[in-house]
Amino acid sequence: MQEFLLLPSLLSADFARLGEEAEAVINAGADMLHLDVMDNHYVPNLTVGPLVCQALRHYGIKAPIDVHLMTKPVDRLIVDFANAGATNITFHPEASEHVDRSLSLIHKHGCKAGLALNPATTLQCLEYVMDKIDLILIMSVNPGFGGQSFIPSALEKIADVRKLISSRHLNIRIAVDGGIKTENIGQIAQAGADMFIAGSAIFNHSDYSEVISNMRKQLASVRY
Ligand code: DX5
Ligand code: ZN
Repeated sequence: MQEFLLLPSLLSADFARLGEEAEAVINAGADMLHLDVMDNHYVPNLTVGPLVCQALRHYGIKAPIDVHLMTKPVDRLIVDFANAGATNITFHPEASEHVDRSLSLIHKHGCKAGLALNPATTLQCLEYVMDKIDLILIMSVNPGFGGQSFIPSALEKIADVRKLISSRHLNIRIAVDGGIKTENIGQIAQAGADMFIAGSAIFNHSDYSEVISNMRKQLASVRY
């Protein structure tokens, strides 16, 4: 198992002070920033494009940026986000006509590639592309909004994905996104996840260091 990574989702940050907010969570101990890209088409909400990723880089953010595309189609934005300084780019298989080609495109542009599975999406889409995936993002809410409750069936899916990765001896991270809080992060790690994306639980807290260190304490007691 790889080290645990904590990724605050900027969706719940104060967008008028995005650079400061990104800097604050990294200084508070976060490992990476998660940037939710929504297009009002694949999901019923509209957020930010590559300009904002580039603006964070210009502001001086050096931490890895994990881009979560909730857009349809994806290929044009893959190139634009790679050029804007993204580290990881994850998309939903339902949103690309040619999943294998989109994964290769992400690698061609120097980023790590992820596939995001909605709560009702099965693991079947992973079957023939496992060798092209660096991370599998398990959605524990339906994509589109922050502040929703964790869907419990995600735990079983995390465990199933962990078994699949182990059986193939692959080095793929399991990210979980939606409804993660200090109270449930331990259980999510226990199921087999190693990347934790949390928006409202971090940004709605008055002290980012405190919530991040509380989450790390929960992770420290996870045993396999
Ligand atoms: C939802 C987004 C999440 C969101 C999570 O579509 O992908 O990244 O910010 O927010 P919380 O942690 O508040 O559920
Ligand atoms: Zn996300």
